[in-house]
Amino acid sequence: MSLNFKSFIKDKSLFVILVPSLILILGIVVYFAEEKVAEAAITLNPYNKETISLGKSLYVQNCASCHGVKLEGQKNWMSRLPDGLMPAPPHDETGHTWHHSDKYLFMITKYGIENIIGQKYPNNMPAYKDILSDKEIISVLSYIKSTWPNKVKKIHDQINDREKSK
Ligand code: HEC
Repeated sequence: MSLNFKSFIKDKSLFVILVPSLILILGIVVYFAEEKVAEAAITLNPYNKETISLGKSLYVQNCASCHGVKLEGQKNWMSRLPDGLMPAPPHDETGHTWHHSDKYLFMITKYGIENIIGQKYPNNMPAYKDILSDKEIISVLSYIKSTWPNKVKKIHDQINDREKSK
């Protein structure tokens, strides 16, 4: 075969295809790497006044209709509705929101429950990926956490620590 390195790099048509392809592949790798880093680094900020006040107004607009203005959830939230689906649970300390890590709460709010558990599970919880930005989701969840008693906040911090050290 007469193809040597010189003729190889002289063949410009190859570069026209090769260079953009490499850039595209690199772009995809960077995009996914960044998204992963961002999601692994999700941390709620329940002590920042600005975050909490933004989160509170977003909560009232987006979540309170189901989860309650006082985060009390829907009535009899542990019993299935007539249509077989579950009511919205409370986000205060009587619910189980605080049993889940920052990252888990973020992923559920952003992508919905089915996406996170990886199987079909009909439910009434909307996915917010096209409605709220990542920052807004973190603000809403930070507001929710800011309402918990200190004791519950501490246990929740430990749940996060345990997940991060895995
Ligand atoms: C249309 C009603 C509705 C709205 C609006 C809604 N949710 Fe939900 N949410 C639900 C229901 C119902 C569930 C429980 C689903 C199930 O387990 O079947 C749920 C579950 C959750 C859970 C999981 C709780 C746990 O303990 O596992 C989180 C977190 C959550 N919602 C956050 C939010 C946030 C944040 C908002 C606003 C940005 C919001 N939800 C808006 C209905 C709603």
